[in-house]
Amino acid sequence: MDLDMKDVVALCKRRGFIFPASDIYGGINGFWDYGPLGVELKNNLRDLWWKAMVVTPPIGPDGTPVQIVGLDSSIIQNPKAWVASGHVGGFSDPMVDCRETKKRYRADHLMILKSEGDKWPSFHEESEDEEIEKRLKKLNLDTNVSNYERVNLTDLDASFYEKIIAPDTKVAGTLTEPKEFNLMFESHAGPIQSDENKVYLRPETAQGIFLNFKNVLDSSRVRMPFGIAQIGKAFRNEVNPRNFIFRSREFEQMEMEWFCHPDEVEKWRDFWFEERTKFWRAVGLASDNLQIRKHGDDELSHYAKEGLGTSDIEYKFPFTAPDFGELEGIAHRCDFDLTAHQEHSGQKLEYMDPVTQDKYMPHVIEPAAGLTRGALALICEAYTVDESRPSGVYLNFHPALAPKKAAILPLSAKEEHVGPATKLYLALREEFAVDLDIKQNIGKRYARQDEIGTPYCFTIDNDTLEDGTVTVRDRNTMAQERISMDKVADYLREKMKPVSAMKVAA
Ligand code: GAP
Repeated sequence: MDLDMKDVVALCKRRGFIFPASDIYGGINGFWDYGPLGVELKNNLRDLWWKAMVVTPPIGPDGTPVQIVGLDSSIIQNPKAWVASGHVGGFSDPMVDCRETKKRYRADHLMILKSEGDKWPSFHEESEDEEIEKRLKKLNLDTNVSNYERVNLTDLDASFYEKIIAPDTKVAGTLTEPKEFNLMFESHAGPIQSDENKVYLRPETAQGIFLNFKNVLDSSRVRMPFGIAQIGKAFRNEVNPRNFIFRSREFEQMEMEWFCHPDEVEKWRDFWFEERTKFWRAVGLASDNLQIRKHGDDELSHYAKEGLGTSDIEYKFPFTAPDFGELEGIAHRCDFDLTAHQEHSGQKLEYMDPVTQDKYMPHVIEPAAGLTRGALALICEAYTVDESRPSGVYLNFHPALAPKKAAILPLSAKEEHVGPATKLYLALREEFAVDLDIKQNIGKRYARQDEIGTPYCFTIDNDTLEDGTVTVRDRNTMAQERISMDKVADYLREKMKPVSAMKVAA
C-alpha cells in the first residue's frame, strides 16, 4: 500500500516525533524541531553510527580493525577555510526569478514544454502528468503532453526565454536569466556588521575534519590509513526546502573522512561502500526500498572532478517513489581539500610515512550521511498500516532504534499490580529507555505504544503475583507469551543484539 506523507507528518506531530520549528508563530520554512520521541530516535541512530565508526570500527580487508577517531569541530570557522574549500566560490545553485510573481525557482529543476507555438509552459520537474494537463487546460493550450518536447531550462538558449510561461503565471516572458545563488548562511562575528567580520555557518561537517587533520595526526597515534568522524549540524539556505525534513535548511550530518595512500583509494572506496550499506540494512532499512546508485558524469561535485566519482545509498521515500532519494553519498574527494587548505593556509599538510619516509598528500574516501534524513527513512520504513488493530497503524522500528524499548503496564491501577510494575520499571530503566504506563484500559495503552513503535509491552497481572511471570506482547505480531519477571532484562538485551553486531535483524 502506498504511504501518504500527510499521514506520516500527522503521526510525527501527534505523537511528539517532529514539530514545525516556531509552530506557534506559524512555523518557518525549512526548519524543524525534534520532540520527546523524535530526539530519542535520532540519538539512537546517531549513537549506532558513532559506535559503528568510532567505538568499534569495522575489521578492515587485512583482518584487523581499521582506525577511526572522533571530532567535534566548531560550526563557525575562519571564513578563509570556506574560500579554500570552494564553498564561497562554488557552493551555489542556478536560480531564475519571475518578474511578475517575484517567485524564485531553481533553474535546473524547471522543465519546459517546447512546441511549435510561442507559448512554452514551464513546470517543476517533480510535477505529475495530471497536474501538467490541468495547467495546459487553464492556459488554453493543447493538453496532449506527448505533443511537446520536454527540456530542462538550463539546456535552453536565453534567446528563447520570452516564450516561457513561468510556473505560476499565465503570460510568457517573465523569467530572468539564471544567476548563481550561494547556499551558505552568513552572519557576523563581533559587534561590527562589516564584510571583514563576515562568517559562515558550515554547510557540511567535513571541512572541520580537514582543518584538524594535522592536529589529529600530531596529537594521537593514528597512522595512515585512518579516519576522522564527526556528527553535527550543517546549514544550507536551500532555495526549496521540501518534503518534510528531507531537505531542510538546518539538518544533521554523520560524516567520516578516510585518509589513505592514493594507490589504495579503489580498495577503500569498495570497502566503505559495503560497510555503509550493511549499516543501513542493520538499522532496519532491509527492504527493497534501499538501493545503490553510481553518479553520472554530469553530477560530479566540485571536489570529485578527477576522482572515482560518488556512489549514493538511496531510499525510496513516499514522495520520491517510484524513484529514490539520497541518504548517503560515498565520494572520492581525491586530495582536493587537503591540497587547497595547504595552499591557502601556508601550512604543510602532507603525510610522511614513518617507515618508508615516503611523503604524499593523502586521498580521501568520504561516506557522508544525513542523520535527520536517516531518521526520516527509518520512520517511513517503520510506518505500517494495520486496520485490524485499534491504532490502525504501528511503527515497526528495530528494538535498538525504537525511542522506547518497552512499556511496563500494570493490568489495573491497584497497588498489587502497580507495586511490582514499578519495581520492574525501576530495575529496567537503569539500562533501557522504558515507560511505566498506568492510566487507561490496557487496549488503549497497547494502541499508544504501537503508534510510537515500542516493540514490547510487559503486563503485570494476577498471575504475576502467583508465579512471578509477566506477559510479553510483541508489537508486530501482537502475540503474547509469559516469561519470568527476572528474565525481562535478558530478553530485551537479546533483542538489541543484531544491530550492535551490525547484522541485519532476522
Ligand atoms: N561532505 C559531503 C556532503 O556534505 P552532501 O551529499 O551534500 O555531501 C551529505 O550531504 C548528506 O547530508 C546527504 O546524503 C543527505 O543525507 C544530507 N543532506 C544534505 N543536504 C541536506 C538537507 N538540505 N536537508 C537534510 N539533509 C541533507
